[in-house]
Amino acid sequence: MATSETYNYKVVRQFAIMTIVWGIVGMAVGVFIAAQMAWPVLNFDVPWLTFSRLRPLHTNAVIFAFGGSALFATSYYVVQRTCHVRLFSDGLAAFTFWGWQLVILSAAITLPLGITSAKEYAELEWPIDVLIAVVWVAYAIVFFGTIIKRKTPHIYVANWFYGGFIVTVAVLHIVNSAALPVSFLKSYSAYAGVQDAMVQWWYGHNAVGFFLTAGFLGIMYYFVPKQANRPVYSYRLSVVHFWALVFTYIWAGPHHLHYTALPDWTQSLGMVFSLILLAPSWGGMINGIMTLSGAWEKLRTDPVLRFLIVSVSFYGMSTFEGPMMAIKTVNALSHYTDWTIGHVHSGALGWVAMISIGAMYYLLPRLFGRELYSLKLVEVHFWVSTIGIALYIVAMWVSGIMQGLMWRAVNADGTLTYSFVESVQAMHPFYIIRFSGGALFLIGMLVMAYNIWRTIDGAKPVTAAIPAPAH
Ligand code: HEM
Ligand code: HEM
Repeated sequence: MATSETYNYKVVRQFAIMTIVWGIVGMAVGVFIAAQMAWPVLNFDVPWLTFSRLRPLHTNAVIFAFGGSALFATSYYVVQRTCHVRLFSDGLAAFTFWGWQLVILSAAITLPLGITSAKEYAELEWPIDVLIAVVWVAYAIVFFGTIIKRKTPHIYVANWFYGGFIVTVAVLHIVNSAALPVSFLKSYSAYAGVQDAMVQWWYGHNAVGFFLTAGFLGIMYYFVPKQANRPVYSYRLSVVHFWALVFTYIWAGPHHLHYTALPDWTQSLGMVFSLILLAPSWGGMINGIMTLSGAWEKLRTDPVLRFLIVSVSFYGMSTFEGPMMAIKTVNALSHYTDWTIGHVHSGALGWVAMISIGAMYYLLPRLFGRELYSLKLVEVHFWVSTIGIALYIVAMWVSGIMQGLMWRAVNADGTLTYSFVESVQAMHPFYIIRFSGGALFLIGMLVMAYNIWRTIDGAKPVTAAIPAPAH
């Protein structure tokens, strides 16, 4: 029996296109601040162009505008396709799109002006925080409303990951952003001292765990099997993966506060849970990669699949490195150094960006009823970005470990072997290498934008009918 009901692809298309746009903007700012670290003259003595103001603009743009758009686009697509129903509400879905763009625009204006709450990854001032909360609640209603009216008996595992991400981010954002406004654009945190730090890093770490990980695992569980044309390696493992991951992540935040005023036992607890976190992270990584078992040869011919699988490998790498850095004695060396920045970008570029890119290459042609304009260009994109990431993270490892060792080196008489300025000088070549790696990654994104533009130019948006329920 045919049905006249169709999927809502419009909002998916809008978010998918904005993923590429915001990716380019956020990464261009990243490349610029990387250049500033190599050549400080690029701060131009203009307050709103200084590194300190553009750095939060970069993090907000890449995490929330680029990553967020990828998560909205894919979750709206996946929840409809796996539940065999249209989104719960077209109006609310459109509201989440325009509301989210307004949040991004407000961030792009306020951060360069120096308007900030000074909490990392939660810099936006209270009126924008309120808007984020409203948009997020609308998102939850659309997503869970769609799950509730589903026509399939089962809730596919990708939706569990998206659902966990949506609920947890709501709680994190609302609790961490609690503040007392003193004017329209200034507020003070509701928490004080070490409690403020604890709440902030409970938020910060779980922003990594749920925004940058759980949501993207939702992408992995749908798009890797689809692109590989194979079922998930182990469905049972995926369910264990979900519960183990969400249970463990939530306790690991204190590893950001080693050797601070935070009670020592709390730091040790954070360390232990970070070590335990290796198990669910690798369980998930293995599940993603083994989905290809028996079809490895596809990696040779399909560059889109390569983006997806290499991203899962980077996920494995950064979730091995993270627990190691959470060990207090290792953290004593790595904290405050570029090692952290290298770890961040092996997760952010290797995992988050690459899986989003793979998912967009899958989605956009389907949303516009076209074949990709050029697989060759996808191949070029893949190599340019992989080389870019390698340059970025290797430079940061070397400079980070060198920084840590230089800072702690002491002479026989107990004085410091190196002055701080000497360590800064030693970093310089590595900042140039990081800049080059970042620039390559950005060039890859421009190649992608051209390829997608040629793919969808003049195409008519697709309307896809929902399959009738099986009887
Ligand atoms: C098992 C998983 C992981 C663990 C246990 C872990 C652990 C850590 C540790 C110990 C730090 C350094 C904290 C410090 O010295 O200040 C850190 C920093 C960071 N990690 Fe991870 N990590 C994991 C996975 C990831 C992934 C997959 C991503 C990205 C997608 C990521 C993003 C970050 C970010 C953004 C920071 C910097 C936070 C800041 O100081 O601003 N991590 N992580
Ligand atoms: C062309 C690509 C990129 C370049 C060149 C770049 C460059 C940079 C630079 C120079 C910093 C400041 C480092 C410092 O303060 O020492 C930074 C920080 C950061 N970037 Fe990127 N970035 C890029 C892509 C991304 C992406 C795609 C994400 C996330 C999905 C991301 C997330 C972050 C985060 C979370 C931080 C703060 C790290 C911390 O506080 O420890 N970046 N980036």
